[in-house]
Amino acid sequence: MKDRLGRTIEYLRISVTDRCNLRCIYCMPEEGVRWVPHGEILSFEEIEHLCRIFAPLGIRRVRITGGEPLVRLGLPSLIACLHNIDGIDEINLTTNGILFAPMAAELKDAGLHGINFSLDTLNPAVFQRITRTDRFQDARAGIDAALALGFAHVKVNCVPVRGINDGEIAAIAALALHHPLEVRFIEMMPIGCGKQFIPVSMQQAYEAVSAAYGSGTPYSGVLGNGPASYYSFPGFQGHVGFISAVTHEFCSQCNRIRLTAEGYLKLCLHYNRGIDLRQGLRAGLSDETLTAQIRAAILDKPDHHRFTADADAATLDQHTMNAIGG
Ligand code: GTP
Ligand code: 5AD
Ligand code: SF4
Repeated sequence: MKDRLGRTIEYLRISVTDRCNLRCIYCMPEEGVRWVPHGEILSFEEIEHLCRIFAPLGIRRVRITGGEPLVRLGLPSLIACLHNIDGIDEINLTTNGILFAPMAAELKDAGLHGINFSLDTLNPAVFQRITRTDRFQDARAGIDAALALGFAHVKVNCVPVRGINDGEIAAIAALALHHPLEVRFIEMMPIGCGKQFIPVSMQQAYEAVSAAYGSGTPYSGVLGNGPASYYSFPGFQGHVGFISAVTHEFCSQCNRIRLTAEGYLKLCLHYNRGIDLRQGLRAGLSDETLTAQIRAAILDKPDHHRFTADADAATLDQHTMNAIGG
């Protein structure tokens, strides 16, 4: 359906858990995270029920996020259920990849279309510094497993941070030279722990890649449903994308809404505004009533984020990124 500004909303990001097996420094604190109690997390049946309501409203693509979605037991069965819903054409996953390799075949059989892996470094010591874990090899193995099984889309997300991994931009881009995958650099957004780090602009990231491999040619094909601008670089098998979340606002083309693990429908990454669908579901509201609530909420979607403005803090989301799902 369309929102008040005429934007077509057809993409739903579903966070299936706020928990994670990593502790990336820009995403969540090392200790003291208050996890959502299990009883407050939507069950798979509740997620499926909501997706059966979202599909007739025009949601065509679903992305499963977290925390880390693969820590939620039985995720392939949820993907298989959602894959069977009329109107939903694609189920994608955003993961840190740690648990991916052993589950790859099962996820493919369940109907998973594409996977976005978060990988900020190719250096195990830097991986330890960023994620506070030593699981670099597991993360790297996840990407290889996805390539070996021939998923429709394999993407690697890297958030460059000044002084930590910004010297690796060209090396990480080279994953798309050597493999048929897309590498995307993402500008750090000042959300949660991300506020404490110095972001690298996408202009700087582009310059690092072109200094190493020559100028890029803007790529006009469609490589997903999100806000990345893609370039082809000489000799590369895949493409390199840049997500300028802060410096070039792409909100006027926004196509998405988010469902948190607690069942809150978030209309914009950066705002609290939305509705508590769990409460409605558990109170036994009819599908017609829930549909009407969702319609009204989508019409009220915020126009754009306020990363660079002095916004009224009370209306902005104060969660850390693991609770939002990116
Ligand atoms: P595809 O293009 O379909 O592969 O997906 P995507 O880029 O939307 O998904 P992914 O989960 O890989 O997100 C990549 C980055 O883009 C993350 O850092 C997200 O937080 C960021 N992002 C996704 N949606 C939005 C959005 O609505 N606004 C902003 N500012 N950033 C977003
Ligand atoms: N800014 C930008 N991207 C972020 N991610 C997590 N926190 C932030 C932030 N503050 C990224 C992760 C992952 C994706 C889902 O979101 O690295 O790739
Ligand atoms: Fe986990 Fe993703 Fe946050 Fe890293 S960025 S701690 S993988 S939720």
